Amino acid sequence: MESMPSTRKDEFSLPSDYHYLNCAYMSPLSRRVQAAGEAGIRRVAVPANIQTEDFFSGCDRVRELFARLINAPNPQRIAIIPSASYGLSAVARNTAVERGQNVVTVHHQFPSNVHVWRRKCETVGAEFRAVRPPIDGPDCARVWNDAILEAIDGDTAVVTQGVVHWTDGTPFDVEVIAARARDVGAAFILDATQAVGAMPFDLQRVQPDALICAAYKWLTGPYSIGAAYFGSRYDDGSPLEETWLGRVGSEDFAGLIEQSELYRPGALRYDMGEAPNFILVPMFIEALEQLLEWGVDNIQTHCRGLTRELIEELVGEQHPGGPEPVGHLFGLHVPEDVDPEALQARLCAQKVFVSVRGNAIRVAPHIYNDAADIEALRAVLAECGMLTPAA
Ligand SMILES: Cc1ncc(COP(=O)(O)O)c(C=O)c1O
Repeated sequence: MESMPSTRKDEFSLPSDYHYLNCAYMSPLSRRVQAAGEAGIRRVAVPANIQTEDFFSGCDRVRELFARLINAPNPQRIAIIPSASYGLSAVARNTAVERGQNVVTVHHQFPSNVHVWRRKCETVGAEFRAVRPPIDGPDCARVWNDAILEAIDGDTAVVTQGVVHWTDGTPFDVEVIAARARDVGAAFILDATQAVGAMPFDLQRVQPDALICAAYKWLTGPYSIGAAYFGSRYDDGSPLEETWLGRVGSEDFAGLIEQSELYRPGALRYDMGEAPNFILVPMFIEALEQLLEWGVDNIQTHCRGLTRELIEELVGEQHPGGPEPVGHLFGLHVPEDVDPEALQARLCAQKVFVSVRGNAIRVAPHIYNDAADIEALRAVLAECGMLTPAA
């Protein structure tokens, strides 16, 4: 096995006999994120010391850190959102789609990135095009990427998808797809929830019009908060909520009765109501800081080091990502005579935690996993005849 950065397991409070390989479902909280939440609760228990500037400084720190993580040029383009579905709804509300146009996406996207566009297409009489993978097997990602490019035409108003497929980690060439969307004048929207934090991502290379990311998976943050990038296409949009904090002059609490018509600059109008949340925001800051300290490159290298042999052995040449699959998320299609839910229950009995998505087991390690977790998974798979037992 290649040399890899050491696990950060001791920075989390996962029980020592737990093999938690399910970050694509929900990240555990590190001790420092948990401590930030506890301090937040103590702070709001006695709010006397919460100052006006505290309504702005925490959110601004999240913007700065998230912008750094995705290489966004301007932190003011980052909004604080409560969920991916909220961010995508704000995007859909402000993206023109007309009768006869189409919205292109990838087959079986996460529902937060499906319902809102289906509804929009139904309402205006546009076509919703979910591009299926044309083939299975090692060439799947390449052929699927080509099929997405072919589905984009002069009537395409929006292309909206993930960076990798959330069920099995199939990687998409988002830089090339974004360029094609730009060529036809379509908006390119990314739900990066299953990628940012786990693998390097460069917004200035891909240039999406908007990027949405929930915090509770690879960003190792808490539930019910996230971050979204809104590009200049959305500068004059109308947010889902008309928040008072999103208006110019809102830092003058005494003057709030003079309601401003003007929004604060960039993406700040898209912040959710009560964005400064004094419990979740400090937790999110801590999570983003620790990710930047660990280094996203190191996280991906660590995950690849853990899963490479297993992916080769189990999925082998059939992996849809071809020879260079991502290390943090892979789907293991179980043989027909094995019930995936029964397999999951068997894994769970050995304290190996994974998800079932369709007829596949989804394995999703992060920096807190180590070789013992993979060995525990292997042992159960071997018992089920899916692997040769380790020597
Ligand atoms: C790709 C993807 N996007 C978004 C989410 C979460 O969506 P929301 O924040 O709307 O609950 C998930 C959760 O599994 C996901 O896999």
